[in-house]
Amino acid sequence: MNFNLSEEHIMIRDAARDFAQTELLPGVIERDEAQHFPKELVKKMGDLGFLGIMVDPKYGGSGMDAISYILIMEELSKIDASASVIVSVNNSLVCYGLESFGSEAQKQKYLTKLATGEFVGAFCLSEPEAGSDATSQKTSAIDKGDHYLLNGTKNWITNGGRSDVYLVIAQTDRDKGSHGINAFIVEKGMEGFHIGPKENKLGIRGSDTHTLQFNDVKVPRENRIGADGSGFRFAMKTLSGGRIGIASQALGIASGAFELALKYSKERKAFGTEICNHQAIAFKLADMYTEIEAARHLVMKAAWDKDQGNNYDVSSAVAKLYASKVAMEHSVEAVQIHGGNGFVKDYHVERLMRDAKITQIYEGTSEIQKIVISRSLIKQ
Ligand code: CAA
Repeated sequence: MNFNLSEEHIMIRDAARDFAQTELLPGVIERDEAQHFPKELVKKMGDLGFLGIMVDPKYGGSGMDAISYILIMEELSKIDASASVIVSVNNSLVCYGLESFGSEAQKQKYLTKLATGEFVGAFCLSEPEAGSDATSQKTSAIDKGDHYLLNGTKNWITNGGRSDVYLVIAQTDRDKGSHGINAFIVEKGMEGFHIGPKENKLGIRGSDTHTLQFNDVKVPRENRIGADGSGFRFAMKTLSGGRIGIASQALGIASGAFELALKYSKERKAFGTEICNHQAIAFKLADMYTEIEAARHLVMKAAWDKDQGNNYDVSSAVAKLYASKVAMEHSVEAVQIHGGNGFVKDYHVERLMRDAKITQIYEGTSEIQKIVISRSLIKQ
């Protein structure tokens, strides 16, 4: 076993850290307040190869591994989780889904643009009555020969108003349950495809979240991804990788909050000394560091499993479950260490605390991760 990062990984991490400090940090408070989608920063992240990190260079990607992906995600998320979720969804849900399950024609037409950041993508699974219970898709895609007729509503869609390409999961044959579900590529502007109002959110306010409506949208047959009925497996497999991305986002939020709290505790004085010298604060720092390190190892393990070609359904669920818990608990502790200043936007930790909450909800709630983990244990 080797716990050291390679020279190349260190360079990639440092490049992402530098980008986060110089490009994401200025204006992050204002973007959060105004719910401003960072379009110009998305372009810059595309230029750096952050939107197609693991995609084969022959499709315009950076050809990096999953360890590089989580290192980039952690650094971006320390500063701006709204920007990092755009990166995560585009990489692990949209690019990965198309590269692994799409046809060559679909890859040439869509993946080449998504991997470079010319296009942004969205992944549309959740519905008003099918969030955790993803098999209960109400959106229907009726086979009409040369096309499918798509009808239904999708909720809480990240990049919902800003994407060019939408991967939409829908039910084609209800009698077949999860084996009657398909995944489709829908383009912005297709007739009958409407983007609903933007959600006003607690956290990741710079990311763009919408309800989408499909009314008799004619989706060409060649836009179906994979074999007929393979859409649920497509969604589950894609989400397993997505959970590595969200786990690394949670890790970044936790470590970002910790770094701010440590720095503040060495500057702020109370009762005649820096507050880090009080055991009440010192022990909080020790607990935060220990649990963040544990989360880092779990996230690394899940990414390593993916790079090795091992099954990562369970390790990704474990990493997301634990890292999101650590992000939530320790971002609250970081606010506590900052005292009154922690409640003020200028100190950044209140934003990290608000951003942490979504990591326990999207791409499968913590309860769903426990279902995935426990089912696998019981099956063994
Ligand atoms: N890989 C491949 N196949 C899988 C799989 C996986 N990881 N997980 C399940 N399957 C297969 C099963 O083997 C089964 O196939 P068979 O019928 O041939 O045996 C089939 O899929 C159905 O599986 P289950 O019976 O386990 O299905 P279920 O109804 O019990 O649901 C679940 C399982 C794990 C709870 C699933 O519904 C789930 O993950 N729910 C959460 C959905 C989710 O994460 N939503 C997030 C929305 S996306 C998002 O947040 C994006 C964003 O914008 C940020």
